[in-house]
Amino acid sequence: MALENQQTNTKVDNETQTAKRWRLGYHIMAPSGWINDPNGLIQYKGNYHVFFQHYPYGVEWGPMHWGHVASHDLVHWKYYPIALVPGDTYDRDGCFSGSAVEDEGELCLIYTGHRYLDKEKSLADQVQCLAVSRDGIQFTKDSNNPVIASYPEEGSGDFRDPKVWRHNDFWYLIAGTTKNHIGKVVLYRSSDLRTWTYLGGIAQSEGNQGYMWECPDFFELKSPQGIEPEDDCYQNLHQTGYFVGHFDDECFDFSHGSFNELDKGHDFYAVQTFQDDQGRRIAFAWMDMWESLMPEQEEGWAGALTLPRELTLAADGKIRMTPVEELKKLRKNKLLSVENEYISGEKTYHELTDELLEIEVEFDTTLVEAFDFGINLRVGETEETVIRYDLKEEKLILDRTKSGTGVGGVRQTALPKSERLRLHIYLDRSSVEVFANDGETVMTSRIYPTEKNEGVRLFSNEGDVRMTRLNVWRLENIG
Ligand code: FRU
Repeated sequence: MALENQQTNTKVDNETQTAKRWRLGYHIMAPSGWINDPNGLIQYKGNYHVFFQHYPYGVEWGPMHWGHVASHDLVHWKYYPIALVPGDTYDRDGCFSGSAVEDEGELCLIYTGHRYLDKEKSLADQVQCLAVSRDGIQFTKDSNNPVIASYPEEGSGDFRDPKVWRHNDFWYLIAGTTKNHIGKVVLYRSSDLRTWTYLGGIAQSEGNQGYMWECPDFFELKSPQGIEPEDDCYQNLHQTGYFVGHFDDECFDFSHGSFNELDKGHDFYAVQTFQDDQGRRIAFAWMDMWESLMPEQEEGWAGALTLPRELTLAADGKIRMTPVEELKKLRKNKLLSVENEYISGEKTYHELTDELLEIEVEFDTTLVEAFDFGINLRVGETEETVIRYDLKEEKLILDRTKSGTGVGGVRQTALPKSERLRLHIYLDRSSVEVFANDGETVMTSRIYPTEKNEGVRLFSNEGDVRMTRLNVWRLENIG
């Protein structure tokens, strides 16, 4: 995120809040005002807690607060009072991103205190802070704040987004920083969350991997900013990805393989993960991108989080991301279940005009004559969001050039042909999340359709394709 130019706060106009055609049906989103990164993900006393970067007084980024929702099932979320408000000397200009841990029954938030050093707001000094709660709702900032008062020698004033975890007898903390345009991650250790010892850097950009690493996580290091696009990769302004490697907890050395993008859509950033009591590693990300248009601002809100996704490591050394099992609870009724239909040209399902849909579609890719095939969502007179598989190039493509107001652009990613192409799609009023071949590739994008919804269309070009099954559910509107 660039610090400059982000503080022109447009006051939320109550009248504009009335027409809300893009308000999401089943995602965590700004109650009103602005949200960005998910923060402090944790399961505490049985409930799932999600905090988020929040500016409640306008639809653009401003002095950051921590908003708060919680849920017993990762599906139904309740909004709680704002957990952290900026304004103390150490977090005067914002309570930036961070994480949560449980310590002796207390829910502890470790976050970045942000202060500008100049009038132009281009120079920042960032420190790490602690706030605790006994009930998981009311938080008290610690009297020792800031608990890390200055950045390490290999870093700079851009020093933020602490992720804390417990390993054996100690707490460990990593944070992102930068020096001479090299993004890096630094490591600290503590026995009480209040006094921290610096252990050194554990990973850094090899020059072409970003000038600032934001929101690092402890088992995967991600969110570098400013990687140059290379073919189909790194097309977003800021990238989110991971390294798989080995961490030596005696000499604090992390040896790792190459950087992989985690989601290939337009809108996925600042992902954070946590482990729940079933041992699952669950991720949420901000379902937007810095500096992209957010047409929902005219409705008095801006920003949403992705659905919760379970991460697993596959045999090929890559991470698979799939929607958590609990999301099946969103299914209200099955709208369609068909098998074995040949698609030749186009077939529109006019019964699928609901705005909130879960779609499972599978195609046989063994005997296809077609050049490409796929599915169009939110089909209108001139609008549609296209998800297409190019058989020759073996690429999955998400094309939102006709997805409605304010958005555009195509994202494509290599997806090697196997016997079947399975697409598991969650469609909400202004978002689409596509999980291909059980999470081998995931694409997440915001869309802003304006036209009357005429349904869902399957298509194939220059030949037939056999659709082996299509299951569609109407989803609950709980937003
Ligand atoms: C990532 C980020 C973080 C920072 C927060 C500020 O999107 O820039 O590095 O803590 O947003 O809102």
